[in-house]
Amino acid sequence: MKRISLTQHLIEAQRLHNSIPAELRLLIEVVARACKTISHSVGKGALGDVLGSASSENVQGEIQKKLDIISNEILLQANEWGGHLAAMASEEMEGIHPIPNRYPMGEYMLLFDPLDGSSNIEVNVSIGTIFSVLKAPEGMVTPTEQDFMQPGTMQVAAGYAVYGPQTMLVLSTGNGVHCFTLDREMGSWVMTQRDVKIPEETSEFAINASNARHWYPPMQRYFEELQAGKAGPRGRDFNMRWVASMVADVHRILTRGGIFIYPADVRDPSKPGKLRLMYEANPMAMIVEQAGGAATDGKRRILDIQPHALHQRVPVFLGSKNEVELVTRYHTEQL
Ligand code: AHG
Ligand code: MN
Ligand code: MN
Repeated sequence: MKRISLTQHLIEAQRLHNSIPAELRLLIEVVARACKTISHSVGKGALGDVLGSASSENVQGEIQKKLDIISNEILLQANEWGGHLAAMASEEMEGIHPIPNRYPMGEYMLLFDPLDGSSNIEVNVSIGTIFSVLKAPEGMVTPTEQDFMQPGTMQVAAGYAVYGPQTMLVLSTGNGVHCFTLDREMGSWVMTQRDVKIPEETSEFAINASNARHWYPPMQRYFEELQAGKAGPRGRDFNMRWVASMVADVHRILTRGGIFIYPADVRDPSKPGKLRLMYEANPMAMIVEQAGGAATDGKRRILDIQPHALHQRVPVFLGSKNEVELVTRYHTEQL
């Protein structure tokens, strides 16, 4: 089989769809290179002294792991000097990170979850990096948080890297979803799946069921029906998987279908769900939709949500279309 590198794919996609100008290509290649470095650090584990917690908390009050901080630094440093960005934002930084004055300012803005699934670092289970690319508003001089407040439909690129048995990069620039596997010996990203599609039907769901007693009634109903299996209203048995790394769960869904849910619950109305809209839900929603799946917050399309804060949370229902539509109907019927 002919090997197509990430660079070749990006150049060909620009010729075909005119969707990846040189600056955006540079940006994606720099992010991909940073993910390679993160993958290397992750792979070192105890040998690289990268495991364990740092003595700091992030803006969400979560204890930061050493690798959260290392990955954030790798992405910041890799992307600062290339001239393709105006500003960055991250799960691990309270405010935005404008490009320092000593470097030229570009027209894109990058958001990332530098290390997703950090609870899995020590136990040697798949983790990842999620990223989203927006365009800076016309005429912007000094970037502010407000410039990032664009709905997910405005993303010009989104993707994730998953650091598992294989390191993979999954990318969309609005023309389908393509997967690249890191060739560790050559240090290059090689396309291994083109135009991935998520099956519309599924019998597999991913949810942290330990929270079930806190869920709202539509979610309780949906879950009870899944559990009832063949004997219940769904008329078939369902299987459950929960990795606790969104990247790994989404990657499974991309590969063989499924629904991933992190719902809101009654505990703290100021935190609707756990996942963050701008650098977790939006990029994953773009990937899933581009692969023929669906992504909602239980009521509306995630990509249509107008953000109001960098770190805002959102309930997430994404994956195989028919299943997402059903659980969304259960929620909207209750309105
Ligand atoms: P992060 O490590 O970036 O904070 O994200 C963790 C997220 C997501 O990856 C995963 O699906 C979810 O948290 C796991 O939540 P539980 O701890 O409730 O299982
Ligand atoms: Mn995350
Ligand atoms: Mn994270």
